This record gives sequence, structure tokens and C-alpha cells, in this order.
Amino acid sequence: MNGYRCIACAETQTADFSGFVCPSCGNNLEITYDYAAIREDSLRGFDYAPFLPVSRLDAPFPLKIGRTPLIAAPRLGESLGLRRLFLKDETSNPSASTKDRATAVTLRRAMDIGAKVVAVASTGNAGSSLACLAAALGLRAVVFVPESAPVAKLTQALSFGATVLAVRGTYDDAFDLCLTAADEFGWFNRSTGYNPYTREGKKTCAYEIWEDLGRRVPDRVVVPTGDGNLLSGMWKGWCDLQAVGLIDRLPRIDCVQSEASAAICHAVRQLRENANTEPDWSNVVIDEVTATTVADSISVNRPRDGLAAVKSIFQSGGEAITVPDAEILAAIPEIARSSGVFAEPAAAAPWAAVKQMARQKKIEEDELVVCVVSGSGLKDIANVATVAGTALTVEPTIEAVGKIFAR
Ligand SMILES: Cc1ncc(COP(=O)(O)O)c(C=O)c1O
Ligand SMILES: [Zn+2]
Repeated sequence: MNGYRCIACAETQTADFSGFVCPSCGNNLEITYDYAAIREDSLRGFDYAPFLPVSRLDAPFPLKIGRTPLIAAPRLGESLGLRRLFLKDETSNPSASTKDRATAVTLRRAMDIGAKVVAVASTGNAGSSLACLAAALGLRAVVFVPESAPVAKLTQALSFGATVLAVRGTYDDAFDLCLTAADEFGWFNRSTGYNPYTREGKKTCAYEIWEDLGRRVPDRVVVPTGDGNLLSGMWKGWCDLQAVGLIDRLPRIDCVQSEASAAICHAVRQLRENANTEPDWSNVVIDEVTATTVADSISVNRPRDGLAAVKSIFQSGGEAITVPDAEILAAIPEIARSSGVFAEPAAAAPWAAVKQMARQKKIEEDELVVCVVSGSGLKDIANVATVAGTALTVEPTIEAVGKIFAR
């Protein structure tokens, strides 16, 4: 790592900069690397360490972060004629979502700078992730969530011993409150996007997809999107690989949002209507929406890594896809029944988006497509139950079972 660069105005900071956002314009920062130096090392064998901005990577993390399975989903793909569909199953992370990647890197950073209390604003998953990993490392966690967060996510955070503040308001209110409280009390703020280290954790997902595909680049990676940090991280991972000469082409990164929470997709469409050339990023404004989606993880009024996400979609040539909530929910049992992977609503959205792209003939049958299944269905049983079907009640006799199967 050799410094920071503003996503909007491109102003740079040196590696010893201790802030979180651009001192000139307030936008998010991107961490920069000396790729020429990494290039030398990478020729010997691929290793994440030179691509991460933290020390202590030699000390193994007490929990297994990342290294999640890439699962071929031929029966799911078959329904659309797709022969090369894969699911990146992030549900096997310690707190059951992709957030653990970002938390692991941010907590290494927190330890590098001697922080004892770590805080986060979260729709639920980042909070349960922070609580989980902080418990593993012996740090104190404070979690700000909207009061409406699913009970499983709250229960995880509480079980791991975090102080959980259920904010009477939206995720956006929780975010602003966490920011103020972290400043006031000197806590390390892990909040997504605002903390530039979160993107660095998320990008490791791209490295793994590349390795698990036998060092091949997929045509598309389809990413469920709220704040846009998972998406901008995913793009950065591929860009890193290209910058050191390990790959010679980049995938499209497709952004999936619920129609009922689509600030990033709206911004991309607006930009593409106005121009196909790269805009002046310091002038791009992302309009706020009023999010009402059932997919709580991607329910965001004001995306906190929105500009980086819009830029990533634009540069990768990815689609900006909005899907109705009903299609997101319907995708959960479809994925589960044909692949054995259990997704929460946000994590099922990429499959709903692939179906929409296929209907609109935006996707070819031989494309290599990876859907990021970012969180487990166990995290939001109330919503998943609405599409799971119902159990058949039966008397404890073989005759009663026989009657059911005779039907
Ligand atoms: C399961 C899941 N999927 C997708 C996302 C979207 O990530 P981002 O908010 O960085 O766009 C989140 C974020 O909370 C999540 O928890
Ligand atoms: Zn700036």
C-alpha cells in the first residue's frame, strides 16, 4: 500500500494519512498500491498479502474468513439455457455473510492503530459480522442498526457480546448516528464505504473466483447492491489482478438492486443517457431514494459507497438491473432447490437479475456467469418463510403418511 486517492476529486494522501474520507471534498477514498513492486512477487505465486493494506497477515485469523466455495449450478442455469453458471457461496463465512471479509481487514487496521472499541452502522449483517470477529479478537463492538433489522441478525450481534443500539429510524439514520458517536467517543468506525478498508476486504472475493475458475476471468459477476461497497470491492479485485499482469481482461460487474431501493441503478442509467464517455466523477451526484424493499441488506436511501459503485459499473460495462421484490423472494427457493444454497433475500437478487437479463436477451447462453450469494437464508426467516411453502401436518401413523403419498 502506498497511499489513498479520492474517488471523486482524485486528490491523493500518503500512507500515513489517518483520516477516513477525502479532506478536500469529503468523498470516499480508495487505497492505492505500488503495483510494480507487487508484480515482481506475484510472478512467483499468488498471495493475497501484498494486495492488502494491513500488517499482521502473518498471524492467522482465529476464524476462517473467505475461501468460500464457488459452486457450479448447472440445474439452475439449465432453466435459462446457461451452461456456465456459478454461485459464490458467501454464506459459509463465520457470521454467514460476505461482510466478514471487510470486517477482517478493518479489524486488522483497528489493531494496527491500537483501537480498542470498534463501531459500525449496519442494516444487520455488518453488525453481526463486527460482533463476531471482535469477539474472536477480544475487541469491544458497538453496533448501530435500524430498529427494523431482522431478529436473527440482532440476535447474532447480541450473542457475540456487542452493545447493540436499535435506532428509531432507517439505516441511514443509524449511519449518521454512528459517525457522530465514533467521532465523539474516539471509536474506530468500520462503517461500510466510509472506512476505505472495507472495500479492500471485499475484493478478496474476486481473487478467489479467479483462482477457483482455474485462473480464468468470468464474463459477468452479478452483485447485490445497497451501499455499493461489495460491488466496488469486487471490481477492485479484478483491477488489482490486471494491474500486476495476472489477467489480461476484466469481467462485467452487474449491479442488482431492488426496484424499491435503486439509487445506484438510477444514477448509472442517468449517466448513460447523457453520455457514453467517462463523466467527470467529481461532478456526479447520486440522488437519494426512499427505500422500502423487503431485502433489508440492500435497503439504502443514500448509498455510502455510491460513487465508487457507479464508477465501477460504468468502467466495467456492467448492467444496472432493478428487480421487483416479488422476484427477489421467488429466487430464494429456486436457488435452494436446484443448488442446495440457501440465500437471504438480498443474496437471491442476483439470480432474479440473471433471469431478467436472459428475458431481455442481454446475456448469451455460453457466458460464464457468477452470482454472489452474499448472505444466508437463516438471517431473515420471516421473509424467507413467505416463499418456502408449508409443512404437512400428519398423525404419527403410517396410514396417515400413506394417505398423503397416495394423493
Ligand atoms: C447479504 C448482503 N448482500 C449484499 C449487500 C450489499 O452490499 P453493499 O451495501 O456494499 O452494496 C449486503 C450489505 O449489507 C449484504 O449484507
Ligand atoms: Zn476528494
